[in-house]
Amino acid sequence: MTRAQAQHRVAELRDQIRRHDHLYYVLAQPEIGDRDYDKLYADLKKLETEFPDLVTADSPTQRVGGQPLKEFRSVQHAVPMMSLDNTYSPDELREFCDRVARLLPGEQVEYCVEPKIDGLAVMLRYERGELAVGATRGDGSTGDDITANLRTIRAIPLRLHVPKPPPVFEARGEVYMTRDGFDKLNREREKAGDQLFANPRNAAAGSLKLLDPKLVAQRPLAAVLYGIGAVEGANFKTHRDAIEKLKELGFPTPPLWWLAHSLDEILRHIEELQSHEATLPFEIDGAVIKVNSLDQQRRLGATAKAPRWAIAYKYSHEQAETLLEDIIVQVGRTGNLTPVAVLKPVPLAGSTISRATLHNEDEIKRKDIRIGDTVIIEKAGEVIPAVVSVVTAKRPKNAKPFDFAAHVHGKCPECGSSIHRDPEQVAWRCENISCPAQLKRALEHFGHRGTMDIEGLGEVLVNQLVDAKLVRDIADVYSLTVEQLAALERMGEKSAQNVVAAIAASKQRELWRVLMGLGILHVGAQAAKTLARHFGSIEALEHATPDQLMEAEDIGEVMAASIRDFFLNKRNHEVIEKLRRAGVNLKAAATERKTAAGALSGKTFVLTGTLARHSREDAARLIEEHGGKVSGSVSKKTDFVVVGADAGSKLDKARQLGIKTLDEEVFEKLLKQ
Ligand code: IVH
Repeated sequence: MTRAQAQHRVAELRDQIRRHDHLYYVLAQPEIGDRDYDKLYADLKKLETEFPDLVTADSPTQRVGGQPLKEFRSVQHAVPMMSLDNTYSPDELREFCDRVARLLPGEQVEYCVEPKIDGLAVMLRYERGELAVGATRGDGSTGDDITANLRTIRAIPLRLHVPKPPPVFEARGEVYMTRDGFDKLNREREKAGDQLFANPRNAAAGSLKLLDPKLVAQRPLAAVLYGIGAVEGANFKTHRDAIEKLKELGFPTPPLWWLAHSLDEILRHIEELQSHEATLPFEIDGAVIKVNSLDQQRRLGATAKAPRWAIAYKYSHEQAETLLEDIIVQVGRTGNLTPVAVLKPVPLAGSTISRATLHNEDEIKRKDIRIGDTVIIEKAGEVIPAVVSVVTAKRPKNAKPFDFAAHVHGKCPECGSSIHRDPEQVAWRCENISCPAQLKRALEHFGHRGTMDIEGLGEVLVNQLVDAKLVRDIADVYSLTVEQLAALERMGEKSAQNVVAAIAASKQRELWRVLMGLGILHVGAQAAKTLARHFGSIEALEHATPDQLMEAEDIGEVMAASIRDFFLNKRNHEVIEKLRRAGVNLKAAATERKTAAGALSGKTFVLTGTLARHSREDAARLIEEHGGKVSGSVSKKTDFVVVGADAGSKLDKARQLGIKTLDEEVFEKLLKQ
């Protein structure tokens, strides 16, 4: 090959590789597989080795290069990189909008709402289309030159994707570590005996601080660009125009954003963003609200540290600090082994918390939670409290990292069978399908007040029944006799009679309670009621196809598949047959079919503050039992906000949206109606 031919081919290969990098890392829509990509890369590498004078800094082969640095140079930012003021409530956000309106009298203001990415702020300066400098924010006017590190991130273009790039273009945004990449990195670090990163943000920060770009290249870093700095040769009217330009030049930009024209709209979008939180590849700690017009931005200007045209809205979660006294492992209804924190009781969001979920082994490792630690707990999704972090400063000297498998001695803590962890799964599972612990949980669930409501069939009796092998599946409770029960410890003749009577009475419960009692994965009270109403009998449900299931209101694909799986299982069939023979009602009565059960049907409630006579869980259960829904945040869809003592921002929001508020007394009256 002549040099001229090589030059032509090199340019072609670089274009193709750039295009596929963009498709893969920016758009997440790859067109070719790894093998084809590797082939292009190898071809380019080979030609560059043969013709070294054709190598340029923006070649895809030159992402990782150079010697480790001794230290980072300083970079003076052409336009200061400001920080943002924070708000935590609709009221504070209203103050922000009011100030904007005051400073722009009589003008229409359009806002843009975007995710606040929890990563590290960086700036990327392109000169004549080529990445020239990449830097951290530093103190806002001077940052560290981390160009070599940023070049290794394949979501960041080394050359802008347009034939005639602006002479100077500074993009600003955030470098983050993907959630998946973070988990994988920590697993590898663990194997290697390295210290684990506490969260993706710390991992990203630690990675960018490395002085050897070869090491940085191995870290799963990505980027999102949401702003511009110094720009020559391009003009924009709005923030959104600038973002569109960033996209066109080949940068990844925020995947979700909304335009808004009022505080109400802003709040709605903030909420919508929060509902998408789990599906985003990066962690977010709130939303950023920006005035869209760049002219208005200029006129609003900035205070000493933050612009007046943008503000952060941070998601607040109710939190408390307490001592983690022990970690126990529970076996759930489906056989998953769940680690649970035993806490020094502490009040939080209207109830006293003494247990919190630790989710699974990986979460404990990721957060490095140890017995004896002081921890921060949080009520996520309002119902199940979780441990969010450790106050390491308060850690006792002798606290050891928690070893899940060693803690349970590699065995199910309930039945002693071997446990198994699928490499793809996060949970250890008990492999014994007849594990008594699973049966115990299933029975407790069956007898629960919100399910079949069998008085006396609580934890103590359930344990005795299963341990004495009097019950092997939920249907067996219907063949229990007074003699059998009376023979159990601490159970008198009278109590035995009461329990048998309660069990017999439960045969007449509504169909939805039976459905819920079966413990079908994902099927809670709401779904059970829908299914009962829609299908009218267990038989109809047993024969329903997933498509037919999804015709029922609010039944999605996941639930439909789970219901189908449940009825395809032979053992479940046998249980249902046994229930039928025992005379348990398996049909919906006319009333159950016609109306959604309960006086609160179709109504959405939000609970805030501390109620005097109900814990939050209690109140939520009561609402659901009466056919209502409970939501974690106030929106226009909320029908009622139940207000206890020391209510905070949710009450403010309810007032602002004009939503009806109820005190505890009125709430109780409503339930009785
Ligand atoms: S705009 C002058 N937009 O949050 C305005 N910042 O707490 C500059 N951040 O320093 C920032 N996501 O590092 C903006 N969509 C977003 C953001 C965002 C995350 C970071 C940024 C900033 C910090 C302030």
